[in-house]
Amino acid sequence: MKILIINGSPKGDRSNSIKLTEAFVKGMNIGESETIDLSKQDIKPCKGCFGCWKVTPGKCVIKDDMTANLKKLIAADIIIFSFPLYYFSVPGILKNFIDRQLPMVLPFMEDRTDGVGSGSHAGRYDMSGKRFVLISTCGFYSAQGNYDAVCGMFDHICGKDNYEKIFCGQGELFAIDALKTQTSAYLDTVSKAGAEFIHGGISKDTRAELSHLLFPKEQFEAMADASWGVSRDENSTEKADESHIFTKQMATLYNKNSFDGQERVLEIHYTDIDKKYQIRMMKDGTEFITENFSEPTTIIETPFTVWKDIAEGKENGAVALGKHLYTVNGDFSLMVNWDKYFGAEKPADKNTVSGKKPPVMTSMLVPWCVFWTIMPFLGASWAIIPLMIAALTPVFMIKHELTIYDRLSAGAAAILSALTIITGDTAMPRVISYIIFGTMWLISCCTKEPLCAAYVKYNYGGESALSNPLFMKTNYILAAAWGGLYLIMAAISWALTDHAAIFSVLSSVLPAAMGAFTVFFEKWYPQHLASGAH
Ligand SMILES: Cc1cc2nc3c(=O)[nH]c(=O)nc-3n(C[C@H](O)[C@H](O)[C@H](O)COP(=O)(O)O)c2cc1C
Repeated sequence: MKILIINGSPKGDRSNSIKLTEAFVKGMNIGESETIDLSKQDIKPCKGCFGCWKVTPGKCVIKDDMTANLKKLIAADIIIFSFPLYYFSVPGILKNFIDRQLPMVLPFMEDRTDGVGSGSHAGRYDMSGKRFVLISTCGFYSAQGNYDAVCGMFDHICGKDNYEKIFCGQGELFAIDALKTQTSAYLDTVSKAGAEFIHGGISKDTRAELSHLLFPKEQFEAMADASWGVSRDENSTEKADESHIFTKQMATLYNKNSFDGQERVLEIHYTDIDKKYQIRMMKDGTEFITENFSEPTTIIETPFTVWKDIAEGKENGAVALGKHLYTVNGDFSLMVNWDKYFGAEKPADKNTVSGKKPPVMTSMLVPWCVFWTIMPFLGASWAIIPLMIAALTPVFMIKHELTIYDRLSAGAAAILSALTIITGDTAMPRVISYIIFGTMWLISCCTKEPLCAAYVKYNYGGESALSNPLFMKTNYILAAAWGGLYLIMAAISWALTDHAAIFSVLSSVLPAAMGAFTVFFEKWYPQHLASGAH
């Protein structure tokens, strides 16, 4: 099957529209395709001499690239017209290409049967089995209502609705690397459309997805307006510099639904070019401040080059922060929830690889906690309860992913409970349980994923949190601290075998104190590192 792509963008391979076309062809997955890049071709305008009808039938009198193009059109099975919308129609180079197809039709007048227009010319070649696709981006926020002229023309050329079409507004966003999260999701849908097209036709659901706006109208228009870097005042010749345009555009990405009742002022200081901007994040949007600065709540000090690389996805923001390529001072929660505030939140991040709900630490803790709570007060035979809980953990947690620590805990707690029942001794199994529990935390510090990280990573972007040095350092320290605490608990439990009441107090107070320390440390330590501390 031969796919022929006519790239009608004067920008050639920098075209936004061709990105959609490439995604569509990838989705079709039927091998090679050929592209005619009209921006690189020599195609003169039709002279209107009708030489191709009366002097050299089927052959144009102009000798240029169109001679070869006509042969390719005749040979192709699927012809994709990829082009930007120019003045609500096709760009001139594509119109030239279309006009120069006159040799492909016969001069004789024919009636139309599809109700389009008032006449037609029969084809000189049999084009009946071919499938046509139009793929185009345009600059306005939506494609809706902008393609009447294009569809009017192609209804005449291909037959009424005898072609597939994907028209997408906000086209210039496909050229912005910093928006890849949003645009690549759209391109994935275009690929899906390609797969469906080749197996029959694009489904209603996919069409509905394709008509979704990449950004809401207001947000897109603010972003687009900011991108020009010029003022609305036509007498002003001032042109904003790149960092100004870039930061103002970033401000337009602010997602006002993330507003939590607290106004924030983010200050960005580009240290390499010594420029400072502030973004006031409010209930109804942002204010972009370039002078008369307010009191900032979060200050980012970064070279502009670094910040741009992060925004364009060339550098991971968290990794760069861990490498001290930039620093953050003040309210660090803005950084932790950056994607929520500035719009690139990926819904998949909250899911596990298996598609189940993320693991919860309670599934690992419950068998132990029940064991430790029951043992000092009730007899050894009551160990049947933690034994049952441990055995049933996979059932209770059927909807959740289980970590290796959940499994190890359930296994160890079950074995210890069984030993308690068999031996009738509660003291030694309890000491051993603390040793096992503490050792599990400590051993996890020698792995790529310290124990607590296996659970909390889902609050910090899923697997990607594991490449975040701040997150990892914090979790290694906490895992080591918890491991140490439980080894101490083992010693205390052994030493206080005959002092159940004292032990019972300590066994509640010490973990509670460590819990409070954890809550403090997991906030304070990343913030401390981000402010430039090593
Ligand atoms: C000369 C010119 C005319 C344009 N006319 C329109 C238009 O009528 N409607 C529209 O929504 N966008 C219009 N645009 C914007 C382009 O359609 C838009 O930037 C598109 O994404 C460019 O696609 P490309 O990168 O594939 O060339 C126009 C752009 C230019 C340069």
